Formats: sequence, C-alpha cells, structure tokens
Amino acid sequence: METASPRPLRAGIIGCGVGRSHIRGYAANGAEVVALAGLDEERCRQAQQEYSIPYVYRDYQDLLARDDLDMVSIAVPNYLHAEIALAALERGLHVCVEKPLAHTVADAERIVNAPRRPDQQLMIMFNWRFRSDSQAMKRYIDTGAAGHLYYAKAGWMRRSGIPGLGGWFTQKALSGGGPLIDLGVHMLDLSLWLLGYPKAVSVVGATYAEFGPRGRGSFGGRFATGAGGYEVEDLATAFIRLETGTTLLLEASWASFSHFKDDFYVHLYGADGGAEMNVKEYTEVDTLTFYGEVAGAPVEMKPTVKAGQAHSLGIQEFMGAIREHRPNLSPPEQGLALMQIIDGIYRSASDGREIQL
Ligand SMILES: NC(=O)c1ccc[n+]([C@@H]2O[C@H](COP(=O)([O-])OP(=O)(O)OC[C@H]3O[C@@H](n4cnc5c(N)ncnc54)[C@H](O)[C@@H]3O)[C@@H](O)[C@H]2O)c1
Repeated sequence: METASPRPLRAGIIGCGVGRSHIRGYAANGAEVVALAGLDEERCRQAQQEYSIPYVYRDYQDLLARDDLDMVSIAVPNYLHAEIALAALERGLHVCVEKPLAHTVADAERIVNAPRRPDQQLMIMFNWRFRSDSQAMKRYIDTGAAGHLYYAKAGWMRRSGIPGLGGWFTQKALSGGGPLIDLGVHMLDLSLWLLGYPKAVSVVGATYAEFGPRGRGSFGGRFATGAGGYEVEDLATAFIRLETGTTLLLEASWASFSHFKDDFYVHLYGADGGAEMNVKEYTEVDTLTFYGEVAGAPVEMKPTVKAGQAHSLGIQEFMGAIREHRPNLSPPEQGLALMQIIDGIYRSASDGREIQL
C-alpha cells in the first residue's frame, strides 16, 4: 500500500546576509522557501531571483502575517533576535534563530521564557556542531574512550576580519559585543556541547581593542561599513571554571597579527585520551586528531569524515525535529547559558576580577 508523502514544509527567512545559507539549507532539505524579509532591497531581490522565492518584504511583520508558513529563520542583527523571535513564536511558527541567542542575558531570557506549544520548535543555529568532524568528535567523546575530560582549549582567531567597521557588528547596543559574542560563542558552544553542557561557575576575562578603534582589521567584502563607532573588543580571552572541575581556556579575535585568515579549534584533554579539531580557513579535511594509547604505546588517530554544508545540516536537524515532534539538538536554554558566560566575561574584563556565575 502506498503512503502519501507529507507536503513540503514552508519557510520564511528574515535577514538576507547569512540568511542565504538558511535558504540554501531549506532548499537542500526539500522545504519550500515562500518568503524573505530584509531591509537591503538589492540583496533581497538578488536572493529572490537566485532562489526563486515568491514573496519579498521589507517589514518582517508582513512576512509573519502570512498564514501559509510552518517555520521561520531569523538572521538579523543580534539586538533584533528577541523582538522577532517572540513575534514569530506568538504566530505559532517553528523558529530557528541565528547565534548568539540574543545580545543581552535579559533578551535571551525573554526568548527562553516565551510561551510556546510543547511541539513548537525553537532552535539556535550553532551550525558548526553539525559539521561531520564535530559530530565524529562528539561520538568519540561519548564512547568514554578519553576518560574524564579535565581541560579544554577553544578559540577562533582571525588575521583581519572585523565585520562591517562602524556597522551594527561594532556597536555594542546592537551586537552585544565583538568577536567574543560573534565567534567565541560558536567555540564556547562547541566545547560545552562536547563536554555535555556542564554549568559554568566562574569566569575571568580580558578584552582588547587594538585594531578597530584605528579603523584597521576590516573584513571588507560582504559587510558594509557604517558611520557608527567602534565600541567593542577586537580580541577577548577567558578562563572558565565548570561545575565538573574542568577548566576551559577561550580566545576569540576579529583581527590580530597571526598566521591564518580564519583559524578555529577545540582541544579536549582527558585522563585516558584526547581529541583535537583544528580548522584552518574553513577546511573540512584533516581537521581531527584523537590521541590515546594502545598496548602502552601512544597513538594518534586521524579519522576521515565526509564534508557537508554546516547550515544545511543544521536546517536538516531543525526540520527533522519538526517532523518527528521531538526536541531539537540545539535548544534555547543552552543559548541562555552561553550568554550568561559571555556577560560574565565582559563584566570580568571591565571590573578586572573573577566573576562568580
Ligand atoms: N552561524 C553563522 O555562521 C553566522 C554567520 C554570520 C552571521 N551570523 C548571525 O546572523 C545574524 C545576521 O548576521 P549577518 O552577518 O547576516 O548580518 P548582515 O548585516 O549581513 O545581514 C543582516 C540582515 O538583517 C536584515 N535586517 C536588519 N534589520 C531588519 C529589520 N528590522 N527587519 C528585517 N530585516 C532586517 C538586513 O536587511 C540584512 O538582510 C547575526 O545574529 C549573526 O550573529 C551567523
């Protein structure tokens, strides 16, 4: 007997920068992208043509007012995440919001506490979790082969990559901060996810702004520069104590005199083994090394994994959770925990002391 295949899910996208990776993700996973909203008309029209999207709006409320959508992706500046997520949840839609969950702890709390149906999805796009190498590292850690993980190091360092000097990224009230909340949040998430999301108990942080205030270190390219000031750090470093006794050393920079254009990593140190993920210039090959011992001799293992488009894999998870009526793997409570740590790091940096969380 033939069973009818379910109708395609219908998506709306708000924001047309990284929002385009969501569009590609929905298309790759068999969804219909019905509508797009954004203020940058030209970019939106280009995306409309490229991906054959029927409707484009300037006002996101017009997109949310449609009655044919199942889900929306929110890919707008950080200060708008809460306002738009709350409006979309109220419309009954499944919501996938870009990282960070919000620009402040208060807004992250508003999102987490917003009323929603038990089966209504609210997922944060932590795309790097869905890379095949991250997934392989998670599976390895979860076997217990590395034993108790007592130390971790993670970071994302850029040679010259301040997004949009003077635009929303570099204005504290709009972004919530610099590379710590932009890039560091990814690596903090990846580390905590691999470690099973233990709570953080205290943080010490320091921040620096050596490039941005002098108009240096810009990414150029797709990010428009603006007339706003440079109000955030361009490098942050932090030492984080977790409730398990494990400590985590974190660094994030948009601009620094260093080797690679983009270099991100997570290193985990366990009592019986270790694991490293090193991603230079976004490569997906040869990024993993697992360390252990065989018959008393130290060994290095180099797993080979298939490359995949991380945003598409994230959207696959979002749509899978919708279809299967199950919790998604990147829930908002984790986004709130990250915001509390990031806020603690900024407070530690400005007060010059350790902050208890
Ligand atoms: N997961 C990732 O790898 C990744 C990568 C880049 C950005 N991001 C996140 O995505 C979000 C957007 O970043 P971006 O790089 O695309 O920024 P961007 O500045 O390139 O694009 C922002 C988009 O939001 C739209 N927008 C702004 N205000 C709006 C409003 N009131 N109503 C409707 N649309 C509005 C703009 O028109 C634009 O299309 C941020 O939260 C950022 O942290 C995530």
